[in-house]
Amino acid sequence: MLVVNGRPRHEPGARRDGPDGERSVGLKQIPDTPRKSPKRSTPMAGQPVTTRIVLASRPSGKPVAANFRLERETVRDLAEGEVLLKTLYLSLDPYMRGRMDDAKSYAKPVEIGSVMEGGTVAQVARSHNTAFKAGDIVLSHSGWQSYSISDGTGLQKLDPETAPITTALGILGMPGFTAYAGLRNIGKPKAGETLVVAAASGAVGSAVGQIAKIYGARVVGIAGGSKKCDHLRQELGFDVAIDHHSSDFPAQLAAACPNGIDVYFENVGGHVWSAVFPLLNDFARIPVCGLIAHYNETSSVSSGRDQLPAVMRAILRKSLTIRGFIQREFADQRPDFSHQAGAWISEGRLKYKEDIVDGLENAPEAFLGLLEGKNFGKLIVRVAP
Ligand SMILES: NC(=O)c1ccc[n+]([C@@H]2O[C@H](COP(=O)([O-])OP(=O)(O)OC[C@H]3O[C@@H](n4cnc5c(N)ncnc54)[C@H](OP(=O)(O)O)[C@@H]3O)[C@@H](O)[C@H]2O)c1
Repeated sequence: MLVVNGRPRHEPGARRDGPDGERSVGLKQIPDTPRKSPKRSTPMAGQPVTTRIVLASRPSGKPVAANFRLERETVRDLAEGEVLLKTLYLSLDPYMRGRMDDAKSYAKPVEIGSVMEGGTVAQVARSHNTAFKAGDIVLSHSGWQSYSISDGTGLQKLDPETAPITTALGILGMPGFTAYAGLRNIGKPKAGETLVVAAASGAVGSAVGQIAKIYGARVVGIAGGSKKCDHLRQELGFDVAIDHHSSDFPAQLAAACPNGIDVYFENVGGHVWSAVFPLLNDFARIPVCGLIAHYNETSSVSSGRDQLPAVMRAILRKSLTIRGFIQREFADQRPDFSHQAGAWISEGRLKYKEDIVDGLENAPEAFLGLLEGKNFGKLIVRVAP
């Protein structure tokens, strides 16, 4: 069964005060300012204007709307081998917070003034590349902009008849694969074991819990708020769901795991990890997928008591496996995943929920909300109708 929250968060036309609706609260807009074009081509009359959101400044701690800037630019003409892509959907993901900093990481930061990075589903609007024709739908990484030009590298054609195209950004895309890869290679849940996952109603966590159920584990999901917890139990079949905002959250978690925790799929860190840590069983496996509770921290050393000695003691004493991973290191398993996940979805064993926000100009606000748990399901921006 498909669970899609396609309800626009913003009524069409609401909060739009420019003639093109391209304005948003707190976003500085630069009106149509055609830039100097590359030598090989010149902007032509009738060329589309791209709206794009660039990184205006690096955040210090929690990002704010002023860290983004909305710009508009006339798209240049295509060179041979290039395609013009019209963005239909933009994926918003927690990793984008890391790209806003210039700290050393596994991926390069977005430069100040550059378009924010992001996965997209786009339609080929024009093609000077024999591999693509106008109308093709592709998975791209063209970022927070309404039009982009590509030489075709890395574009993946999508068949809208096979699956809704938004699923390429969620359950059948990078987040779904992250869940699969982390479980298959690190978590390895067995029948009867207890698996705990945090950010459990999100794109990764919801897939983790459901796949672990398919593997026969008992699944405890942790999420923010009763609506998300009800969804985990009632729609996704989790055995238990706990609200991490509850004042007695650690006690509730302990009560929900009477036999301890065998697999903890770490998406969050922070107070959730603190509650999980004492409950870990001998030989527990912990795929460290994300630490969203720490993404806005400005210091590399967390405040409070140094937990490292206790963690190291537990790793030794309980023979824990704690393994960080980035999904792309398991890229060779992607075909297996696509095949398997497609089958699970059609059998009704793997469900998904999408949280779709209308309008590129609303991407910054939606992204800031993601970092505070305001999204409910895979967060996607509908850029073009
Ligand atoms: N390693 C990889 O290759 C890889 C790939 C994709 C994603 N990830 C990571 O996986 C995690 C989940 O990503 P996603 O795309 O599925 O996002 P998501 O769950 O759809 O959205 C993020 C969720 O995190 C929770 N959250 C935010 N701030 C929090 C805080 N301070 N404390 C506790 N919970 C907080 C919120 O859920 P609640 O309201 O339920 O708290 C929020 O809805 C992220 O850490 C992300 O970086 C890693």
